[in-house]
Amino acid sequence: MRVLILGGDGYLGWPTAMHFSAKGHEVAVVDNYLRRNLARETDSGALYSTPNLHERAEIWKEHSGENISVHIGDLCDWDFINSLFAEFKPDTIIHYAEQPSAPYSMLSTAAARLTLSNNIGVTGNVVLAMKEHCPDAHLIKLGTMGEYGTPNIDIEEGWLEVEHKGRSQKFLYPRQAGSLYHTTKVMDTDLLWFYVRTWGLRVTDLMQGPVYGIFTDENGHDDRLLPCFAYDEIFGTVINRFVVQAVAGYPLTVYGKGGQTRGYLNLKDTLQCLLLAAENPADSGEMKIYNQLTETFSVNEIADHVQRVGKQHGLDVEIKSIENPRKELEEHYYNPAHTGLLDLGLKPNYLTDEALGEIIQKVIQYKDSIVQGRIFRGVKW
Ligand SMILES: NC(=O)c1ccc[n+]([C@@H]2O[C@H](COP(=O)([O-])OP(=O)(O)OC[C@H]3O[C@@H](n4cnc5c(N)ncnc54)[C@H](O)[C@@H]3O)[C@@H](O)[C@H]2O)c1
Repeated sequence: MRVLILGGDGYLGWPTAMHFSAKGHEVAVVDNYLRRNLARETDSGALYSTPNLHERAEIWKEHSGENISVHIGDLCDWDFINSLFAEFKPDTIIHYAEQPSAPYSMLSTAAARLTLSNNIGVTGNVVLAMKEHCPDAHLIKLGTMGEYGTPNIDIEEGWLEVEHKGRSQKFLYPRQAGSLYHTTKVMDTDLLWFYVRTWGLRVTDLMQGPVYGIFTDENGHDDRLLPCFAYDEIFGTVINRFVVQAVAGYPLTVYGKGGQTRGYLNLKDTLQCLLLAAENPADSGEMKIYNQLTETFSVNEIADHVQRVGKQHGLDVEIKSIENPRKELEEHYYNPAHTGLLDLGLKPNYLTDEALGEIIQKVIQYKDSIVQGRIFRGVKW
């Protein structure tokens, strides 16, 4: 397959590029370094620095002999994306290129405007460029489990059969996001569903939970190929953040009661899911939706797990409940269906003591570069 990865410099984008390249696909990555720029702007530097995309592609070629072509530009810019799609003519498009942080989207008016115009702008341009240049290509779009919120009923996989006054119809499962970022993902889903119905596009929308981890099959032997690893409150995901807090001797920041429950997955499983989605494309006029998670945890469960495994690695880990800066339920029902990807062949890598210990060991290696002031700053909404 000719695979175009939008957002190929990101936490998920770069590992995905290497994974598809290792499987023999022709891969091109696109990025405008928005994430690196926002990290600089908000002083949210990562645990270690990562080479730029051109350098990463060179290093990957040294190891694998495979080419990954690199395109730097803003996907909100129609002229850029138009010529990119015209030249590359992808079979599969993996769309990661968004502002992915809930706290960033709630930080200021400027941050909210950037999130809205960037996220909706990229998704709109991707659909229009597909129509122009590759209407039969398969778009795999990263959504989030956060689109559903925390309803008091089971969360189905994308769709809900509704019976009303003796009649019934299948609709998109109701969405009630908890941040502006998550709301842009809801808008993306609506936009895609409209164009699937109207133009017969082929789309898979992956409702992904928070991802954790560093290692993949492709990066274990060279740290220069590791993904960017954020540990700050704005761009870090909770398991990665707690590991860094544990290593830094910073009390784990549990928000309020800590009963907030979400579905999580290992970075290795994101790669498996993307490959399975690409190998099992949606038909023309079909939107497939999968809930992409392998297990659910409350924040308290994660904190306890990090504390226990941290102890095995010589860390004295304290857990501290702090006032919740977010508007969210701290105790709630949570039961999301997630059988679709398992049925396609996903073999989960669970959060075992060993898996957590591996991440802890890597973070210990970079302990001296942790800046305590970046860990928590209390972005409120
Ligand atoms: N990481 C997670 O836990 C997680 C969970 C659920 C969903 N997601 C979704 O997966 C996707 C990837 O997440 P991530 O953690 O890798 O984020 P990331 O910020 O590390 O990667 C996104 C990349 O897209 C690029 N980008 C953004 N706007 C762009 C534009 N206009 N033009 C070109 N490039 C642009 C950024 O520079 C960045 O490198 C996001 O859409 C995110 O919402 C991530």
